[in-house]
Amino acid sequence: MAIMAAGKGTRLKSRRPKVLHEVGGRALLLHVIEAAKTLVEANHIYCIVGHEAERVQAAVAETGVQFVLQEVQRGTGHAMQVLKAHLELSAAPPPKHLLVLSGDVPLIRAETLAALCERHLRERAAMTILTAVPADPTGYGRVLRAAAAAPEVTAIVEQRSLVPGQLAAPEINSGIYCFETAALFSKLEMLSSDNAHGEFYLTDVAALLVADGRRVVAQQAESADEVLGANTIAEMMHLDEAMRATATRRLMAQGVTIFRPDTCIIDAEVEVGADTVIEPYVQLLGATRIGSECRIRSYSVVQRSTLGDGVTVRNGCILEGAEVGDGAVLGPCAHLRPESKIGEQAHVGNFCETKKTTLGRGSKANHLSYLGDAVIGAGVNVGAGVITCNYDGARKHSTTIGDGAFIGSDSTLVAPIHIGDGAYVGAGSCITHPVPDGALAIGRAHQVTKEGWATARRARRTHSADKLADTPANKR
Ligand code: UD1
Ligand code: CA
Repeated sequence: MAIMAAGKGTRLKSRRPKVLHEVGGRALLLHVIEAAKTLVEANHIYCIVGHEAERVQAAVAETGVQFVLQEVQRGTGHAMQVLKAHLELSAAPPPKHLLVLSGDVPLIRAETLAALCERHLRERAAMTILTAVPADPTGYGRVLRAAAAAPEVTAIVEQRSLVPGQLAAPEINSGIYCFETAALFSKLEMLSSDNAHGEFYLTDVAALLVADGRRVVAQQAESADEVLGANTIAEMMHLDEAMRATATRRLMAQGVTIFRPDTCIIDAEVEVGADTVIEPYVQLLGATRIGSECRIRSYSVVQRSTLGDGVTVRNGCILEGAEVGDGAVLGPCAHLRPESKIGEQAHVGNFCETKKTTLGRGSKANHLSYLGDAVIGAGVNVGAGVITCNYDGARKHSTTIGDGAFIGSDSTLVAPIHIGDGAYVGAGSCITHPVPDGALAIGRAHQVTKEGWATARRARRTHSADKLADTPANKR
């Protein structure tokens, strides 16, 4: 199998290689590789790279596909010439049939590819072209059939080569084909670049095979949307929308309520349990899993996180790489950073930030806290504004807090530090020494109270201002 991904994407007017532009939260090329991998093993997939090859390779290397370098990009036909040269150098014989995909046709489904291959073998064709009839065929190569309903194709004509009688031809070439490898390879040297783009067109192979009496057939995709290409940002955003709509429809079919689904951004791999409610303008990204009967309120962004059942995420929360137990309540405006583990029924409230922190079952940090590198037990009350001072300017240190402890508001816990089970920390404390189980620690300056001081001062000022004799200040 081959995936053509060497092109620059001139029409995008972008410095980023076209196949690395994202739709549905993932690079175009990754979508295509994913579909391809359902049919063959990764090491049988030849990815043809060229423009910014290193960057493209790095972005998809983990998929395990093979790379073939097309140093200068002289068109899709030239991409196949480069592949042919590469395969001829390798020890293994080339595959008998070759499925060729385009790296910029990302919505293609594995089922459609399987059906194309099956049809190709059944028809004993030299070339089988996946086609579609979209609402607007402008810009695509057109597939001309021998007769209206006949499977046989006579040629593929690129948009800029269409002659007046062909301009209305409705059936487009998807850029996805199945070839008998030997038949394809026998025609590659005959391609010419004498055309509107000055490129070697793979599409010209169709007419060359037909001229040889070989069978070239077309297989129409069930839905045109699946084979739409991504040549401009506007086309990509259209595909993105289609992909998001598929994701929200899939979740709604599984019992998830999504208000105004068109405003939500939900990646394809996200899983959500039944009876969870997702409010408008929510983003669920990456490998996120959400249980059932949760409520995700507006303007929250949940990325690579796992939420149990019955979790409430109030407005404006940001979660990344977090784990949240059943029945927990977050926000509004809580920020859970990587390795935050929030226990069942725990609360992380208004403007609290957590990082690499475990908060035990039923513990509450409801207001304005920073909890980093901490292990906090169950049933702990973390008062408003508590801060774990985890960083000494050079290294990070950890804080541990035992079950049932009470940390008074506005306390700073200077790590490394341990607060024992059931211990109390007085409000406004700066804690620098461990607090044993059940103890009370107060780490703040003693309060000095001067009776009447404020009243007297006020009186003095009034007196010197207007010299009134009957003010209470005279009772000094
Ligand atoms: C191509 C088809 C057109 C079809 C359309 C479907 C040709 C000549 N035309 O046009 O009939 O309707 O796809 O989307 O094939 N690439 C390389 N090396 C190159 C040039 C391109 O690897 O030298 C890759 C690109 O990265 C891209 C794919 O091949 O992924 C298609 O190339 P592109 O330039 O987008 O072709 P289209 O003009 O869309
Ligand atoms: Ca294209």
